[in-house]
Amino acid sequence: MNQKIVIGNWKNYLNYEESILLSKAISNISISDKTRVMISPNHLYLKEVNEILNKTNVEVIAQNLTSSNSSSDTGGITAVNLRNLNVNRSIIAHSEARIRQKNPQDVLNEIIPMGFQFVLCFEEIDQIPFDLLSNDFEIILAYEPVWAIGTGETASIDHINEIHEQVKSNLKDLQLNIPVLYGGSVNPSNSKDILESEFVDGVLVGGASTKIDQLEGILNSI
Ligand code: 13P
Repeated sequence: MNQKIVIGNWKNYLNYEESILLSKAISNISISDKTRVMISPNHLYLKEVNEILNKTNVEVIAQNLTSSNSSSDTGGITAVNLRNLNVNRSIIAHSEARIRQKNPQDVLNEIIPMGFQFVLCFEEIDQIPFDLLSNDFEIILAYEPVWAIGTGETASIDHINEIHEQVKSNLKDLQLNIPVLYGGSVNPSNSKDILESEFVDGVLVGGASTKIDQLEGILNSI
């Protein structure tokens, strides 16, 4: 895989005005062909952020989804409604979202037949439902050890390589061509080393992606 993927998960850090300002700033930066950028704003601002970024090659994705279609899912996010907003991909199973929703495998069982794209987070290899994965449409995996999320304690390169190499070897055995990203306290000082690893196809960035200089620093390290 030649391009590295950088996903900015803004979580719930930014208010409306900050989200719009940051989207406009991102729309003005030049992104090299070596990099693919996705931005995941707060769901409430998806439409506006998408309208700003859809003129660029930055893809806007959702932070989570809870159902595929309309149902009695109060407060949930459905794949069908995301598609209505021209959003065709979502992060799934982020550890911060998983604690308050149904089993990610049930959600995957519903959205995979729809061809709805996703970035599936895991912190243990046995959480990856290899039997559900396919090359039929683009799937992205993201290794996010919980202890590294938002703590400033980035996993060591050796640790990242060990996990990613194992996942990539399992994917290879199944002839699956799926990128594997790393997430957990990625910032401009550690992104170069992480992104240089042959086993790392990109990064899933939280806090640092909400500050334009840090996001640019990460993009420039590729
Ligand atoms: P931080 O980059 O803030 O550690 O967050 C990582 C993350 O959870 C991205 O989804």
